Amino acid sequence: MANIAMLGTGLIGMFYTMSLTSKRGRDKVVVVAGTQPEKTKAFAEKWGIPNWTTNLAEAIQRPDVDLVVIGLPNYLHLEAALLATQAGKGILCTKPLARNAAEAKQMLDAVDKAGVFAGYLEDLAYTPKTLKALQSIRNGSLGKILWTRSREAHPGPHSDWFWKKELSGGGAIVDMGCHCIEIGRNFIGKDVRPLEVMCWGATQVHPIEAEDSAVGLVKYATGAIGQFEVAWTFRGGMDLRDEVSGTEGTVWLNHWLRTGFEMFSAPGQRGYVSEKSESDTGWLFPVGDEVGALGYTDMFVDMLDAYEQGKQPMETFYDGYVVNAIMDAAYRSMDSKQWEPVLLDVWRGSEDITDQAARTDFDAEHYLIKQEVMPDGKIKFILKNKQSGEITQTIQ
Ligand SMILES: NC(=O)c1ccc[n+]([C@@H]2O[C@H](COP(=O)([O-])OP(=O)(O)OC[C@H]3O[C@@H](n4cnc5c(N)ncnc54)[C@H](O)[C@@H]3O)[C@@H](O)[C@H]2O)c1
Repeated sequence: MANIAMLGTGLIGMFYTMSLTSKRGRDKVVVVAGTQPEKTKAFAEKWGIPNWTTNLAEAIQRPDVDLVVIGLPNYLHLEAALLATQAGKGILCTKPLARNAAEAKQMLDAVDKAGVFAGYLEDLAYTPKTLKALQSIRNGSLGKILWTRSREAHPGPHSDWFWKKELSGGGAIVDMGCHCIEIGRNFIGKDVRPLEVMCWGATQVHPIEAEDSAVGLVKYATGAIGQFEVAWTFRGGMDLRDEVSGTEGTVWLNHWLRTGFEMFSAPGQRGYVSEKSESDTGWLFPVGDEVGALGYTDMFVDMLDAYEQGKQPMETFYDGYVVNAIMDAAYRSMDSKQWEPVLLDVWRGSEDITDQAARTDFDAEHYLIKQEVMPDGKIKFILKNKQSGEITQTIQ
């Protein structure tokens, strides 16, 4: 059981509070902090939280608080994390961990030094579909992972601070690329070192300084490529899709617009349909259990079980730091138009993993490149001679 201080009463403060009170049932939000007294008080009343404040330090330092949940704008994550470590509290911080890797490293160092529990709230690594796909992949169902693609796109975020580069740390990459990159890392293997990044990004639509659209490739030590696609320019709701391709198979996941719940309504829903829906009439794609489908429920179960058992959760501050370092490389690549190295002060994964192409023997002299059943029913084998390298075909 944990007593929690919820920092933030915005979109994520609401989703987090909703999920925290849903599944385990034994954790309590004992205080909430927000900016506006009336809104914060109303939030506390709505969710049955006994205390509220507009002072972050006051919420964090309360003696009855065990864990601090940071659901604040990106520019406040470092400050809140430092206050929490100074008070000796455990911390759960939303994504992105920070505006850049330098800030994320300060947060990582602070929790390591204070020896407090810390979890990175990357909910999209915990969607029920993702957890099931990860289990299959770890069981070897897809063979060696070669390529992942993760896409998050919608018409743009809901609060002013996201659009100010100095407050958020960037545009669509820092806001949503962090999800896509960490989803890719989970599928490829978090033990595998990210080496370099090539990224295109541009401000295609909105009158802002930061990128509202980007596509990037993260190259890993196994040779795997993690592709991320993000946009604040997409029309039609929230496009959340992942794909994984391995030597033995493929997984496709669609988390939001095609979840199996599709309805048409001429008069309309008259209000909220699901996060970032653009229309409440005509064809609609509602989501039955929004906090479940987005991974919040399973994420908090993992985080709070780990906290109670003194273990590491699936997503740690170190993961958040690696993601920030990958995003820093993406921003450098956008400027240089070159592959840019991922600069990590400390690498906690494997050093032994290298890029080795798989080889399948056909016979003593040949590797098998490909086999295919042809329209006449015969099987064609494409072979490579191990000595000469010559490529030939044979039909059986
Ligand atoms: N899927 C996800 O994991 C997800 C989704 C949305 C947002 N987020 C993250 O959550 C964080 C907040 O985003 P949001 O969408 O809730 O933003 P928001 O603008 O909806 O809410 C931010 C809230 O922060 C609080 N706040 C701001 N300054 C404060 C201060 N000085 N003291 C106390 N409270 C203060 C206010 O309550 C405000 O409502 C961001 O880091 C964002 O990236 C994560």
